Amino acid sequence: MVWLRVVWLHIPLMLSVLICATTFAVEPPRADPHATAPVSIFNIGVKECAACHSAPSPIYTALGVTRFVRLIEATEWLKFDKHSYAYELVRQDLSQDELETDERKSNKLSVAITSKLNYKVGEFEEKCLSCHVGSSANVPPTRMDLEFGVQCEACHGPGSEYTRREQHQQVSWRAKTPDQKSELGMRDLSSPSTSAAVCLSCHLGNINEGRFVTHNMYAAGHPVLPPFDLQTFLSAMPPHWKTLPEKPIVANASKSDLGTFELQAEYNLAHFDIAGTADAIQLAIQGSYDKTRRSMIGGLVANDLGIELIHQAAAKTETWGDYSIYNCMGCHQELKKNRTPFRHESRTPGRPFPANWLRLEYPAIHVSHRDKQEALSRQMTDSFNAVPFGDARQLNELSESHLQTLSNRFADRRKMERQAMTKQEVRQWLEFLLKSRHDSLDDYWVAKQTAWMLFVAIDELVEHKELAHDSVAPMQKELRESLRLDLKLPRRQSVLDGQKGSLETARSFDAARCKLLLIKIVEATATIR
Ligand code: HEC
Ligand code: HEC
Ligand code: HEC
Ligand code: HEC
Ligand code: HEC
Repeated sequence: MVWLRVVWLHIPLMLSVLICATTFAVEPPRADPHATAPVSIFNIGVKECAACHSAPSPIYTALGVTRFVRLIEATEWLKFDKHSYAYELVRQDLSQDELETDERKSNKLSVAITSKLNYKVGEFEEKCLSCHVGSSANVPPTRMDLEFGVQCEACHGPGSEYTRREQHQQVSWRAKTPDQKSELGMRDLSSPSTSAAVCLSCHLGNINEGRFVTHNMYAAGHPVLPPFDLQTFLSAMPPHWKTLPEKPIVANASKSDLGTFELQAEYNLAHFDIAGTADAIQLAIQGSYDKTRRSMIGGLVANDLGIELIHQAAAKTETWGDYSIYNCMGCHQELKKNRTPFRHESRTPGRPFPANWLRLEYPAIHVSHRDKQEALSRQMTDSFNAVPFGDARQLNELSESHLQTLSNRFADRRKMERQAMTKQEVRQWLEFLLKSRHDSLDDYWVAKQTAWMLFVAIDELVEHKELAHDSVAPMQKELRESLRLDLKLPRRQSVLDGQKGSLETARSFDAARCKLLLIKIVEATATIR
């Protein structure tokens, strides 16, 4: 077996680095430089990945590879993950009889949407499967690709290069930095900034990638996309990965057998900036509030991508003014008496504003460009105030300047994701979150996303035994029900079963009660020092 390992370690990497250097395309400014791979790298299809990632072969097990990755990823995804069913739920090539069955009501809706929109041949593939399969203009899907919905490469990046010459199969791959991996097409999803950007390209939308739920699609019946919290969404996916704390570490080990998987020290350093003795590493990993940090970073990424979406929309006159980038309640609020008016001090009544849940500034504990960001945010608000739907030309420029500062924010975030978060910082984050959103918690989407984020932190504090479960559980239960926080899990179950009309819920939820509960939950953490 030894020869095998030696071969893996010594296959020349130089060649691929050379090829890659000549094909790497210059990207426009964006929130996350890792989000797209160079254009000439292409998808090879889930069957290829599944060949190795369905069940560990005896060789891989003998080599100890399964201590690093499980190698059952494709099985988990195919059996349990909603993404592998995302096409099946919307496919349109079914018989009338099939469409009438209860099990196929989502397909029936899909057909209804595209027929209301008068789609021509090919439009469903182009405008819908961009998200329901994850196809893009660069990589047209094959028939077989379609059947499997959102596949490995839609998230991990196109595999033609990193699987070539067994590059990523080698143990030496572990020591590569995220940047080196991304040059060969693989996105490093252990980085919350990177994974948030990947998820949001479908779960929020990205016009340039052809992924956008327009208001027409909503009006034709597309379910309203919920807000997004990275950690909540990740934990609603059947995990086919081991997080860093789940990858085995031997405490009190000598330098030579630091961990139980090969190149562990190099891997930790390249991905998490963690170095030192095994004990120190153990402490850094176990003591850190990793999930809370993910949630926080995901929120910041959503803020930035919200600005990018405005930028993309404002760049094209034909998409500008699409209602779906605005807060739905700006127009769909019933004008009833005795309702808390849905308004903000700084805003002109009657002018729609972008979705509030996307807005999240940097918490005070992590500032380096706060003033500039805040000034730009104010200017953008003014611009949305100036004329109905906002001044496209001005917004295009403002969002451009915003995006230019994003590379700084990106650097800030990379720093944040490499720093262990302490319990005091978790508390600061909770207070910041509540304070910064105090005025917008009467918005259903803000309340929902804020509750998701708070719960991630609260649950992690409970997990670390800093907070008693009983002190918060009843309030969490009530919020879970009234805000409909649970994501629908079973793979084949339609999301339509879970969310009886989001607009309805958004109109009728008890905003004052939810706000009170959220405040009380944060107050319950006051004992943590
Ligand atoms: C020939 C077998 C093989 C094929 C084909 C293959 N993989 Fe892998 N993959 C592996 C092995 C083995 C590892 C673990 C390498 C190690 O020991 O570090 C791995 C590791 C990975 C990792 C973890 C890398 C990291 O840096 O954390 C990802 C992600 C991954 N594979 C995705 C894919 C995807 C997506 C495809 C299809 C495009 C694919 N693989 C195709 C064998 C394969
Ligand atoms: C290529 C597009 C795409 C990408 C990328 C993507 N998703 Fe999804 N996701 C979908 C679609 C489409 C559905 C809806 C499936 C259905 O039809 O019910 C979905 C459903 C989900 C659901 C179930 C939602 C519910 O209401 O039950 C979760 C959770 C989820 N995705 C998490 C993630 C996470 C986490 C990431 C990033 C790591 C991600 N997704 C990346 C397209 C995508
Ligand atoms: C919807 C997005 C999505 C899809 C689809 C997806 N993955 Fe993943 N994958 C992730 C995320 C997120 C992680 C976890 C990153 C982390 O936190 O370390 C991950 C991690 C992995 C890892 C690393 C495991 C580890 O323990 O470090 C492998 C290997 C992998 N995926 C293979 C696959 C394969 C093979 C497929 C297709 C059968 C696939 N993934 C489909 C999002 C996805
Ligand atoms: C600028 C105002 C405006 C905004 C913002 C807006 N809508 Fe609408 N919406 C309308 C109007 C006007 C109609 C009726 C005309 C039509 O069908 O386009 C409508 C119709 C609809 C319908 C059809 C059913 C019904 O109630 O009449 C749905 C569903 C819908 N919108 C969802 C949304 C969602 C979801 C959002 C937020 C992502 C949103 N809308 C944002 C103005 C708006
Ligand atoms: C920007 C990405 C995106 C685009 C574009 C998109 N969708 Fe969706 N779609 C989603 C997501 C995400 C969900 C799941 C929403 C949730 O979690 O509640 C979904 C859910 C659905 C559902 C309900 C599935 C179920 O579980 O029952 C149908 C039907 C649907 N979409 C049809 C379409 C059609 C038809 C189009 C094109 C006109 C389209 N979608 C375009 C992202 C998208």
